[in-house]
Amino acid sequence: MVIPPIKFLPHLYADSSMTFLLESLAYAKREIDTALAYPNLEQGRQEIITAQQLHEAILTHIASPKFAHSEPAPAKARVQFPVEYAPRPTFQKLYKAECLEKIKTIESASIDCIITDPPYSQGQTSNGQRGSYKDLSMVLPFFEGLAKEYDRVLTPQGEGYCFIDWRGFALLYEAFSPYLSIRNLIVWDKLSGAGNHYSFTHEFIIFFTKKSYSPNKGGTNVWRQAGFASGALVTNGAKKHNAQKPLEIIETIIQKGCPRYGTVLDTFAGTGTTAIVCSRQERNFIGFEHDKAMYELAVKRIEEEAEKKNYFCI
Ligand SMILES: C[S@@+](CC[C@H](N)C(=O)[O-])C[C@H]1O[C@@H](n2cnc3c(N)ncnc32)[C@H](O)[C@@H]1O
Repeated sequence: MVIPPIKFLPHLYADSSMTFLLESLAYAKREIDTALAYPNLEQGRQEIITAQQLHEAILTHIASPKFAHSEPAPAKARVQFPVEYAPRPTFQKLYKAECLEKIKTIESASIDCIITDPPYSQGQTSNGQRGSYKDLSMVLPFFEGLAKEYDRVLTPQGEGYCFIDWRGFALLYEAFSPYLSIRNLIVWDKLSGAGNHYSFTHEFIIFFTKKSYSPNKGGTNVWRQAGFASGALVTNGAKKHNAQKPLEIIETIIQKGCPRYGTVLDTFAGTGTTAIVCSRQERNFIGFEHDKAMYELAVKRIEEEAEKKNYFCI
């Protein structure tokens, strides 16, 4: 029997719907019951603590005066994808490769969702050239080439999500626009505190599709979800690299942007965060990372994740 790992979903708290909170409470209870059924598993005991914390936090939240007086909100609609896949075993493939070259080996119209996180400002290395965000003559053609490939590999209803900050957005807008439709610029509010120069508390996520497809997504373009400075350390553990993204923001994108059993491409895989979430969320993953140390770090994370999953196979 396979015990599914407990998913700790802090973003549930951000939702003001009582229905959704009650659902998450029921979810926590189910997970506690499952974990209690296997008291000899060390991992199981750890998970009980997590689920109990979730349980208690939700109870406290529901008991708060704010909730006692609020109107019940309509239940969250399940995300409907235009494409659905029958259940199938998923894979995670990470290549040590330069992305603009390796993407050319990907089959056309085979990727349901691109989730990627290029270096923000220090420049990208393409064919041995190192640039900076000021050297547009080097970096722009690289991203134009990538955008053209993104258009080719996406399925007709595929979606793309590309992290960037305020310094890099203008460059990517120019590079992507001839080949793709930039549908929105999502603001990821990382819920962190004040600091110098008004503190960096948000990042951007460019939401794009093929030009021929206009999806109906619902929701808004401001997403509030903890970053590493505001809670993600608790759920992710210490950062393995400065540029690492929290699992939760990737999970949000995957749930909104890729059907179950679909395929995600990450051309700048870094520490492999997208791969880990794909494995947990039953999505295929194809990723490229050109830096040897980073690639090895990601492989280690992916292998550890696979071992964790196997641990529950009895
Ligand atoms: C911002 S990091 C990605 C971090 C990732 N989201 C995570 O959670 O770990 C960008 C990564 O892209 C890699 N990279 C930069 N240029 C590349 C290229 N041309 N091909 C493949 N990887 C590249 C860098 O080595 C770096 O690891």
